Amino acid sequence: MEMIQRPKGTRDLLPYESYKWQFVERKLAKVLEDYGFKEIRLPVFEYTELFQRGVGETTDVVQKEMYTFDDKGGRSITLRPEGTAGTVRAYLENGMSSKPSPSKVYYNMGMYRYENVQKGRLREFHQIGVELLGSQSYLADVDTILVGKSIFDTLNIPNISLNINSIGCQKCRGEYQKILKEFIGKNLDKYCDTCKTRFDKNPLRILDCKEKRCKELNVGAPMMIDYLCEECKTHFENVKSALTAVKVDYTIDSSIVRGLDYYTKTVFEFVDEKTGLTVLGGGRYDGLVEEIGGPHTPAVGFAMGVERLMEMFEETNNTEVQEKVPDLYIVSCGNKENIKAIEIAESLRNQGVYVEKDIMERSFNAQLKYADKINSKNLLVIGENELSTNKAKIKNMATGEEQETELLASSIVKLIK
Ligand code: HAM
Repeated sequence: MEMIQRPKGTRDLLPYESYKWQFVERKLAKVLEDYGFKEIRLPVFEYTELFQRGVGETTDVVQKEMYTFDDKGGRSITLRPEGTAGTVRAYLENGMSSKPSPSKVYYNMGMYRYENVQKGRLREFHQIGVELLGSQSYLADVDTILVGKSIFDTLNIPNISLNINSIGCQKCRGEYQKILKEFIGKNLDKYCDTCKTRFDKNPLRILDCKEKRCKELNVGAPMMIDYLCEECKTHFENVKSALTAVKVDYTIDSSIVRGLDYYTKTVFEFVDEKTGLTVLGGGRYDGLVEEIGGPHTPAVGFAMGVERLMEMFEETNNTEVQEKVPDLYIVSCGNKENIKAIEIAESLRNQGVYVEKDIMERSFNAQLKYADKINSKNLLVIGENELSTNKAKIKNMATGEEQETELLASSIVKLIK
């Protein structure tokens, strides 16, 4: 029979690599909690309209990449392509705005986008992200960027650069769009079809097009940063001076427009200098909560691709992270001996010891070999002799040293911890 393979763009995280993810996830949860973010968990699927309104009709995500289907009740459902819209929906639906402001949440969730699969671009991927709702201050932008920086610092990941930009607000963007349209309009017929459809609704999106010819046509386009209103300009100046004051290196990259429609004012990306891939992207989104039907609520956040992060983490050969090996392997043959092994193993496990024992009814020698293969730190043999004397030896597998012990969990635990 032909084997069934996993769908294109998905991956399996195997038992002998998941410990690295767990290590990183635990470290990051600690960092995020130290900054005051608490975890939120959201449904994998939402009503399609949430993303149409939240992420934006003219984005690649909504136009081309969503996993959308009708459920059996005829409702249009979409697998979440990102976490911000869902977070805002949950914030409003659960009355989180009545709790002390700001609201600070983080998530670690699978996301789904029907993308062209290539290096660093999957169809099912994971994001760890934060959303900070309720503050309009530049200080919230700075704190959010610092959280991002701490993530890479904590994991000792070098060769990351921070790029920032401001894409203004509703007010100044209108003025800028007119000027941008004049520039693009001159060559509109030479742009790709997607860009043409975006010209009227959202010309800013055209600057984000990945098509080579469009990229070339965009060279020399007027930049939002030169057309910011006073408020946006001051906000951006404040972000920049605070980052400089706390000695965070950054580059202003006026080409960052981000792929989703909700951004206002500050946007930022942490880029892997080696691959050029953006590992973490985010920014301010002061209009999104209103767009989803709530009161005006300024907000800022980011999300980080966990697969991309793990790739960088593994390259740094972090020696701190090691696969767990058993503290003890119990060798036993024969019914009575096996029962004794179960009793001791259970008792030790209740005390937090990682114990492995035979569950294959293998021979004595085969068990010894197996204990060695799985790198057990210690070995305990329960044979007929040990059972009758109620005494046994614990062997330290690294040094070969043996110690006498009573065949009692409370005695054994002292010798292996
Ligand atoms: P985004 O830029 O679409 O932003 O995605 C954030 C990060 O997710 C990217 O920088 C990348 O590392 C990772 N990522 C995106 N697509 C893929 C993919 N197909 N395969 C692997 N990794 C991918 C957002 O999603 C916003 N919701 C971020 C945000 C939160 N802004 C404000 N709050």
